[in-house]
Amino acid sequence: MRNILVTGGAGFIGSHLVRLLVNTYPDYHIVNMDVLTYAGNLENLKDIEAKDNYTFVKCDICDVKKVIEVFQEYTIDSVIHLAAESHVDRSIEDPFSFAQTNVMGTLSLLQAAKEYWGGNFTNKLFYHVSTDEVYGSLGEDGFFTEETTYDPHSPYSASKASSDHFVRAFADTYGLPTVISNCSNNYGSYQFPEKLIPLFINNIVHNKSLPVYGKGENVRDWLFVNDHARAIDVIFHKGKLGDTYNIGGFNEWKNIDLIKVMIKTVDRLLGREEGASDKLITYVTDRAGHDLRYAIDSTKLKNELGWEPSLQFEEGIEKTVTWYLKNNEWMEKVTSGKYQEYYKKMYNK
Ligand code: NAD
Ligand code: TYD
Repeated sequence: MRNILVTGGAGFIGSHLVRLLVNTYPDYHIVNMDVLTYAGNLENLKDIEAKDNYTFVKCDICDVKKVIEVFQEYTIDSVIHLAAESHVDRSIEDPFSFAQTNVMGTLSLLQAAKEYWGGNFTNKLFYHVSTDEVYGSLGEDGFFTEETTYDPHSPYSASKASSDHFVRAFADTYGLPTVISNCSNNYGSYQFPEKLIPLFINNIVHNKSLPVYGKGENVRDWLFVNDHARAIDVIFHKGKLGDTYNIGGFNEWKNIDLIKVMIKTVDRLLGREEGASDKLITYVTDRAGHDLRYAIDSTKLKNELGWEPSLQFEEGIEKTVTWYLKNNEWMEKVTSGKYQEYYKKMYNK
């Protein structure tokens, strides 16, 4: 029996993780703490919301007092912390909210855990979910390992790097039992259409232009979101206290090549002629401080804990595009209202 506080469980990765934990471990109580920003959506969890071992609590992670009350009410013994502002472009527009949520919010959770557990850390765990973006940018070759020096460039990655440092500081200073994982770019169902893959799938469907930053030559390492959730499950149960694990699928794609795969897949599934949507590709001004290449070496996770991705990219992208085409109601709901203002502001359309 465990009482696990998952933060950010109504978001993209959090909802997949909550679903996996609730379905796999009927003896665990999963408490999902989320303040429901634009990126948080309880519709993502409709299929499990009535389960006995699941509770949703609407709470801002920055509100230490309320967070401690939640620890008390549900006798929390473990935290898996995902709540964050997560989009690089938004961090360029508004860095303060990233410092607030990602740095102060993480600090507030660490403080709550430390206070509530009161120095008795037996069978306790604070698991912090982070990103490979803290390592900065790679050149043409090489990989990020757990030993790579932090070198963040965007306000988003700087805030995540800072939160990682606070987690390690709490482990070193107060003996808090912690573990951190740094994952590469995720894709799959329920991702908010501000990120490349769902944004472009939706635009292809609606014959809207595809704003490719710069020359489309930046490289990202893509992992199917369910495989990230599986990795978190494995690290939560078997990870060594105080350690860091890199998570990635050795699956690098140049943006423009990935975009061509998306166009091909959407056109085929919609019964359009091959190449029908190629004309939508529009090269636009590059993102400021745009990291050239991310690539994760996840050998440690494979060798020490036996985790490997379950899906090849071709299968994952087919599943993902199919999901967005089938769930156009979900897409319509999240792109109505405020999303239109966001789109106008970011893309001048
Ligand atoms: P997301 O933006 O889809 O979801 C974030 C969730 O956090 C939302 O449900 C939101 O409501 C919630 N949240 C935001 N501020 C909050 C606050 N103050 N209090 C409580 N809840 C709050 O993000 P995601 O893509 O699912 O990412 C989840 C985590 O994984 C983040 O920590 C991110 O840095 C990390 N990560 C993401 C990726 C990726 O490719 N998306 C890759 C590696 C790591
Ligand atoms: P994104 O999904 O925002 O993830 P991240 O910046 O965290 O890696 O972007 C993935 C890549 O796609 C990145 O190199 C930026 C690029 N991109 C575009 O070219 N156009 C877009 O409209 C977006 C959102 C991203």
